[in-house]
Amino acid sequence: MKCSFTVYRFDPAVDKKGRYQEYTLEAERTDKILDCLNKIRWEQDPTLAYRFSCAHGICGSDAMVINGRIELACQKLVKDFKTGNNFVIEPLPLFSVIKDLIVDMNPFFAKHRHIRPYLITAGKALAEEFLQDAAQQAVIEPALRCILCASCTAACPINRANGEYLGPAALLRAFRYIFDSRDAATDSRLVQIDSPEGVWGCKSMRWCTDVCPKGIPVTKCLGQIKRLVKQRAQGPSREPRP
Ligand code: FES
Repeated sequence: MKCSFTVYRFDPAVDKKGRYQEYTLEAERTDKILDCLNKIRWEQDPTLAYRFSCAHGICGSDAMVINGRIELACQKLVKDFKTGNNFVIEPLPLFSVIKDLIVDMNPFFAKHRHIRPYLITAGKALAEEFLQDAAQQAVIEPALRCILCASCTAACPINRANGEYLGPAALLRAFRYIFDSRDAATDSRLVQIDSPEGVWGCKSMRWCTDVCPKGIPVTKCLGQIKRLVKQRAQGPSREPRP
């Protein structure tokens, strides 16, 4: 069927501001939106710029705004939209546009690095195996599904108002280590995010949870961190519990 795509374009080499460009193409109802963008690029306009890699919802590189909602272009099919055959494609909000649908992810990954996204193991030899039982693993399982697509952070209204706020993706990654039974830095991790730019920046508005393409209960995970920070303030340090 014939589909119309209105795509945000911005080339800093020639454009002073963003503009929209219309494309018409033949697509199947079962085509992914990413397939359609590929068709445009391969058959009509090789200058169209966007990111993708796996095309299967794993790498997290093709988050964008499709008909007003943040989605992964490789996870959404033409038939998933009630807007008929018309699509408006825009870059992720919050981040500055480098070109067309490609945004600058450096601030996002800087915040991710800030929360120390790795196990801190109190000197345990790296050659040893770090065992964890199924129940312990289940506590952090939701956060393990995160593919760092930045959809949650781009959607978060607090992030839009306060550029210093770490944002849901970085805090979710902090959750993943705070509640990991093998991590030995729980206290210092909690201290690090006990601030308005940290976990208290979250006002539980749930936009992050609503847009997460992996169905992660982001707001709930951040709530668990808040409870633990409060527990820590009320008494001596204790083992994290969900
Ligand atoms: S291309 Fe990898 S998540 Fe969509």
